[in-house]
Order: sequence, then structure tokens, then C-alpha cells
Amino acid sequence: MDEQNSAFPALSTLHLYLREITASDADRLHSVWTDPLVIEHLVLEPFTDPRQTVDMISLLQLLRSSGEGVRWAITLLEDDLALGTCGFHNWKKEHAKAEMGYELDSRMWRKGIMSEAVSAALGYGFGTMGLNRVEAFVTVGNERSLGFLEKIGFSLEGTLRQYEFARGRYQDQWILSLLKKEWERRR
Ligand SMILES: CC(C)(COP(=O)(O)OP(=O)(O)OC[C@H]1O[C@@H](n2cnc3c(N)ncnc32)[C@H](O)[C@@H]1OP(=O)(O)O)[C@@H](O)C(=O)NCCC(=O)NCCS
Repeated sequence: MDEQNSAFPALSTLHLYLREITASDADRLHSVWTDPLVIEHLVLEPFTDPRQTVDMISLLQLLRSSGEGVRWAITLLEDDLALGTCGFHNWKKEHAKAEMGYELDSRMWRKGIMSEAVSAALGYGFGTMGLNRVEAFVTVGNERSLGFLEKIGFSLEGTLRQYEFARGRYQDQWILSLLKKEWERRR
């Protein structure tokens, strides 16, 4: 059976449970996805209507059925509330690579939650998905995300100039990557 046709790959870690995002997460995720601190550097236009969150949830669910990636809701082991999400999109199977994305409720930052969640996701990506390279695009100036990625082993490869048109202007993006062999060396 294809990976994309099997049951959703929920993941457990020491403190977290990563599960499928569902429509019932809409209220929680809407508050995360409209928090000015969380979205400060994202290239998406800020959401103004809860229906945009519902649509985004549908898009993230589709990633898996279309074979383009997978996105998990991040919850604490003892509580089913979605604190944020992480996962892969733009999965190019012929190149064994995908992009990583993530965001977390700002009240929970700096507790190691995303490191734990992304480590589990990377284990799944380099293992079950057979990835060789994981890429991350970060808007120039998002030092928090850059620092986070470097902490978990990603390398900065360069700056893509005026790579995205977002919020009324062209924005430069940093590109970072983590290779399977580097991930294995760190474990
Ligand atoms: C980036 C983000 C997911 C990190 O989540 P988190 O749970 O706080 O991350 P962790 O606690 O696991 O790791 C934090 C690490 O990030 C780095 N970091 C955090 N803030 C930083 C800053 N202001 N400058 C540089 N590095 C920073 C540090 O390495 C830090 O490790 P430390 O706490 O041991 O020093 C969270 O800040 C977030 O949701 N940001 C907004 C959304 C976003 O930018 N998404 C990415 C788009 S590319």
C-alpha cells in the first residue's frame, strides 16, 4: 500500500502527540494563525475570516491524500488541544525531497515543543517517506525561525532575492536544508 493510502501516521514523542488536523481544530488554529506574533514573518496574507482557517485545514488535509506531503496537529500527550502544526509539503518523490513548515501558539514558545515535534516529523520524513533532503524557506528577518532550524541541524544555503510577493512587496527568503546523512549523524 502507498504511504499516502495508509492510515494517518500519528506520532508520539516524550511529551507530544502529533495527529491528523480535523475540522474541530478550527477555533484553536484560527487563534494561532491570526496571532500577530506567529504570522509576523509568514508570506500568507493575514486571515480576516474564520472560513479562511477552515479552508486552510482542508488544504492541509489534502496534502496527504494527494501525495504532496503531510501536516500534523501538535498536541500535548495529556490534552487534545491543537497548539500548532508542522509537516511537509511540496514533496517531490523523484528527488526524495520536501519542504517543511511549522507554527506554534506563541504562549508555548521556547519550551522545546517544536524541536520535539519537528524531530518526530523528520524521523518520519527521512524514514517512511524516504526523503533525502528537507528544505525550509524562511522570510529574511525571521531570526527566530532561522535560529530554530539551525538548532535542529539545518544549514543556511543562501538568500533567494525577492523570491515571494507578499503583503504588497517582494520579500527575500533564506533557504535552508537538512540532508538525511546529516540527520543520521546527529542522532
Ligand atoms: C519558530 C517556532 C516554531 C519555534 O518554536 P519553539 O517551540 O519556540 O521552538 P523550540 O523551543 O523547540 O526551540 C527554540 C529555539 O529556536 C531558537 N530561537 C528562538 N528564538 C530565537 C531568536 N529570537 N533568535 C534566534 N534564535 C531563536 C533557539 O535556538 C531556541 O533554542 P533555545 O530555546 O534552546 O535557545 C515558533 O517561534 C513559531 O511558531 N514562530 C512563528 C511561526 C514561524 O515563523 N514559522 C516558520 C515560518 S518559516
